[in-house]
Amino acid sequence: MNTPQEKQAVRAWIAQATHIAVLTGAGMSAESGVPTFRDAQTGYWAQFNPQDMASERGFRAAPARVWDWYAHRRAGVAAVQPNAGHQALAQFEQRHPGRLTVVTQNVDGLHQRAGSRSVLCLHGDLLADRWLDAPRACCRLGAAIPGSPPRCPGCGNLVRPGVVWFGENLPVDVLDAAQQAAQSAELLLVVGTAGAVYPAAGLAHLARQAGARVVIINPAPSELDSAAHAVLRGTAAQLLPQLLCPPGVERVNRETERV
Ligand code: OAD
Repeated sequence: MNTPQEKQAVRAWIAQATHIAVLTGAGMSAESGVPTFRDAQTGYWAQFNPQDMASERGFRAAPARVWDWYAHRRAGVAAVQPNAGHQALAQFEQRHPGRLTVVTQNVDGLHQRAGSRSVLCLHGDLLADRWLDAPRACCRLGAAIPGSPPRCPGCGNLVRPGVVWFGENLPVDVLDAAQQAAQSAELLLVVGTAGAVYPAAGLAHLARQAGARVVIINPAPSELDSAAHAVLRGTAAQLLPQLLCPPGVERVNRETERV
């Protein structure tokens, strides 16, 4: 349980910080109905082997199986909405332009759909496609030759989802910008990540070494708890409105959620 004093202290840090970075993970979208990866029973990796479903080797071995899983995830994301946590971050950015940067491991686009503009997507975009054998070049699903997975009509190349898989590098420009945001922030909020995947998790250590306060928001222990100045036990949709919104706005958001 968090004491009111702990939350009050974090609210004060937020009020003082001229630049805030927010590192989000799958737990950020859990209350929208998007499964996490490592939660026991409900997480994707409780059902699937990540090497089968999230690596180039897995895709080449069984392209149809992997493509179909991503098609299922795309449909799932299209059917859900940003939650009160996404909204609180987007509204804070709108009230305080230039003060908050979201760095996300999520590929679901929910931060952007909530209205956040300053979003660095470390692990790509679930809804984007790219060629299997020409990384970074995009082709459009609509133009692709049907199949599972489809092929590019131009080169015949297999189409793969535009996400970062295990064993692949993060986009260099995005990682650079994320590291800069972590190093220049006075406060880093780490929301809904197990902190098990690097280089994303390394941003918390980087921020702390550069002098930022680090705050964890997670209902369960994470691997980054020991790097934090404060650990708030609770969910993203509960705590972010309480921390980031003026009191009246927080009530409105929670009521909108219930409707
Ligand atoms: P994980 O599934 O590893 O961790 C989810 C975290 O969210 C856990 O610490 C949960 O306790 C927490 N959580 C669950 N519900 C929550 C809620 N409502 N509010 C806040 N926190 C909640 O997900 P990530 O840490 O994001 O990579 O995983 C990192 C990367 O590993 C993913 O980007 C993905 C995966 O393999 C790739 O696909 C490249």
